[in-house]
Amino acid sequence: MNILEVNDLSKAFHLHILNGKKITALKNINFSMKEGEIIGLTGMSGSGKSSLMKCIYRTYITSSGQIMYRSRSGMIDLVKADDHKIIELRKNEITYCSQFLSVIPRVSAVDVVCENLFRIEKNKAHARVQAKNMLENLGLPPELWDAFPVTFSGGEQQRINVARAIIAKPRFLLIDEPTASLDARTKDVVINMLLKMKDSGTSVLVVSHDEYTLAQLTDRRIELKAGEITVDQMVTNENIS
Ligand SMILES: Nc1ncnc2c1ncn2[C@@H]1O[C@H](COP(=O)(O)OP(=O)(O)OP(=O)(O)O)[C@@H](O)[C@H]1O
Ligand SMILES: [Mg+2]
Repeated sequence: MNILEVNDLSKAFHLHILNGKKITALKNINFSMKEGEIIGLTGMSGSGKSSLMKCIYRTYITSSGQIMYRSRSGMIDLVKADDHKIIELRKNEITYCSQFLSVIPRVSAVDVVCENLFRIEKNKAHARVQAKNMLENLGLPPELWDAFPVTFSGGEQQRINVARAIIAKPRFLLIDEPTASLDARTKDVVINMLLKMKDSGTSVLVVSHDEYTLAQLTDRRIELKAGEITVDQMVTNENIS
């Protein structure tokens, strides 16, 4: 069963500071996604990958087209859904993990990770134990668990960012470059965490430039070029060189 059907989506930006200059980030985007599938979204810098994720998450307003999402309570067009519905879906079903951690000042690493979990796990101590286990698996040194992530290295921040996105096991995950600044061991940990989520039914749209991550993780790849889909291909062993 499809969890997502994107029909004729386009997205243009009108830059008022440049006399209304129009930039077309996405055009004629059509694809569907099966429940439990992991799709890798690839393409050169500027090809529209993050814009597509943001249209689906509704950070960006889609210019035209439909984004039909099969929520637990039925099909819904994410382009047209009212803000309350979007907030509810973000709370209960859809998580977006951006390329970089937007650091929340004076909140410890553990509590940053726990934010989404606190909504469903009322026992805060129990939530923190889960977060610490996750940070331990991700190899984040224990002395950093109670520190503020603002001073963390790129790779440390990335681990916090991934952990907070997946700890509450969303039903649909949009994740941008989850392994970009990680060493090989940590990369494998993140890949295995995402595969475990897939096993429990999560559908994942992942942006990555990393061939190893894509090969390990994805069932299918969609490549964008200048805002259009140029390749939409199932990953088979023969496709992986
Ligand atoms: N908020 C915005 N306002 C204006 N233009 C934008 C905005 N967001 C994206 N764009 C433009 O849309 C195009 C696609 O950008 P996008 O960020 O989706 O690319 P990307 O494929 O994610 O690139 P990267 O691999 O570098 O992250 C680019 O030309 C970019 O300048
Ligand atoms: Mg991007």
